[in-house]
Amino acid sequence: MAVFASNHPLVKHKVSLLREDSISVKSFRELANEIATLLTVEATSNIALKNAPISCWSGNISAPIMADKNPTLVPILRAGLGMLDGALNVIPCAKISVVGLKRNEETLEPEGYYQNIVSDIAERKAMVIDPMLATGGSAIAAIDLLKESGAKDIVALFLVAAPEGIEAMQQAHPDVDLYIAAVDQKLNEKGYILPGLGDAGDKLFGTIV
Ligand code: PRP
Ligand code: URA
Repeated sequence: MAVFASNHPLVKHKVSLLREDSISVKSFRELANEIATLLTVEATSNIALKNAPISCWSGNISAPIMADKNPTLVPILRAGLGMLDGALNVIPCAKISVVGLKRNEETLEPEGYYQNIVSDIAERKAMVIDPMLATGGSAIAAIDLLKESGAKDIVALFLVAAPEGIEAMQQAHPDVDLYIAAVDQKLNEKGYILPGLGDAGDKLFGTIV
């Protein structure tokens, strides 16, 4: 498994702004999507190409186009939706598969409540999006479901990840590359990332006041 922690200065700048405790819901949403756009560019940089005939203004040419079907983006509900528009900026024709998981805040185990995965996922790159990789339980469960549905080529994108979550992913899904805007220090005793963002879902959906 490869772990790509972004080195892009704009990603670092935007993650720092995202950490500001007094940030508005609007700014949090905008920044999450902007970072998702930049991460999606990085995560698609090795997409396979093939030459195809193009009827160009200057005549017929052979030019590179994507070799495979469009990827499917896989937001983990609910907070993953906060990265969806940003990822779609890069892959506007992407199919969207969703996996609904809620972490039980006592046990820290993910509990599934919904899934709707594109039927031909075996032929597509699946790009999991979720702002937070904490214990790794939710991402691991989502990828388990994708593999059960036939997915073979999977990457996962996170705004902030804890070393504990990266390690857990490495054990559970060593074939899945990770694209991360910021690798933070550690988890606290409640399974929250430090310094982290707090509860990303609540910040995106405005459910804390
Ligand atoms: C958050 C986050 C991840 C998960 C990370 O979602 O968006 O999905 O927690 O924690 P883990 O790595 O320890 O599993 P949450 O379960 O709070 O649900 P939400 O998206 O509905 O807010
Ligand atoms: N979920 C979040 O939203 N934030 C964390 O730090 C951990 C899990």
